[in-house]
Amino acid sequence: MKVPFLALPAQHRFLKSEILSLVSDSLDTAGFIGGPQVENFEKEFAEFCEASFCIGVSSGTDALRFALLAAGIGPGDEVITVPNTFIATIEAISQVGAVPVFVDIDSKTYNIDTVKIQEKVTARTKALLPVHLYGQPADMDPVTDIAKKYKLKIIEDACQAHGARYKGKRAGTMGDAGCFSFYPGKNLGACGEGGAVVTQDENIAKTVRMLRDHGQVKKYYHEIEGYNGRLDAIQAGILRIKLKKLQEWNSLRRQAAAWYSQLLSGVPQVRIPKQAEYARSVYHLYVILAEDRDKLMKFLSAKGIATGMHYPLPLHLQHAYRHLGHSKGDFPVCEEVAAKLLSLPIFPEITHEQVMYVTDRIKEFYTN
Ligand SMILES: Cc1ncc(COP(=O)(O)O)c(C=O)c1O
Repeated sequence: MKVPFLALPAQHRFLKSEILSLVSDSLDTAGFIGGPQVENFEKEFAEFCEASFCIGVSSGTDALRFALLAAGIGPGDEVITVPNTFIATIEAISQVGAVPVFVDIDSKTYNIDTVKIQEKVTARTKALLPVHLYGQPADMDPVTDIAKKYKLKIIEDACQAHGARYKGKRAGTMGDAGCFSFYPGKNLGACGEGGAVVTQDENIAKTVRMLRDHGQVKKYYHEIEGYNGRLDAIQAGILRIKLKKLQEWNSLRRQAAAWYSQLLSGVPQVRIPKQAEYARSVYHLYVILAEDRDKLMKFLSAKGIATGMHYPLPLHLQHAYRHLGHSKGDFPVCEEVAAKLLSLPIFPEITHEQVMYVTDRIKEFYTN
């Protein structure tokens, strides 16, 4: 049996005629930039997120960059985040001129260890940037308390957490702004690049709207210097088609995660992911900690099972960020997790049979 890491072609098979007719309409109207598809998607995604405003942008990275800029973060400021995330989180921080400051992750949730945030706050700290990794929201109450105490902004990286909830609240709506990616493999993915910022703050919404479109308030009137960072109309239209399925897809991911957790619960060499009591995860990824991870990965690959590592080398140890001056041992929890983590195949269409095949092969590996 073959088990892919994700199965976008299967997802598209059901949506193909609707997507093709949308593309065909777009060719007829030549409405590629802005317009009703983008505006309607923004309305619908804001509603889905239970947020006041949504601004479509060209990627999750731009969403983070524009949200930071709109929150007033700039050169010399420090932004606290985690070393176990996709590099875009800290690219956005450094590209607005600020400095990423890392806090180790919690050993149970792999999200920011909120107990360790306060010791990293300095006079230069301007924002906290929690990442809702793998689809599980970070523990936002302590994050919010620290932000209030030190008057810091909160930008949420919700790029892996479309539809997740923290104590009933949607990921992306608890800080000053929430940032989403619609990279194809995300829980809500475009057929290309895309992203969005959601916010309850009208001023942030207004600034992000300008930033994504060369700082324009109206055509050729530039209030600020901005970027070419728009969400295009075809992607917005495709996202509208897929958004209608997101709730159901997230439930199917949760179902698959429950199958994995049940089938792997008696395997001593494997640690299954824990959903925190405050969280409703949408399982963008199902990440186990596995003894002999690299050998297991090879074994599974030989058995037709695709797996991934999110992420194998923590950001504080990446060559690109060597100027931050970190070394091995600085964030021990993150480093230990990185050495063992393994992402198993998860996508809405995965069957019980496929999950059983994966877990049987994992058991086979450890009994031999
Ligand atoms: C946690 C996280 N942050 C940021 C990003 C960046 O999103 P994009 O690839 O759309 O720029 C991603 C997507 O890969 C992500 O997973």
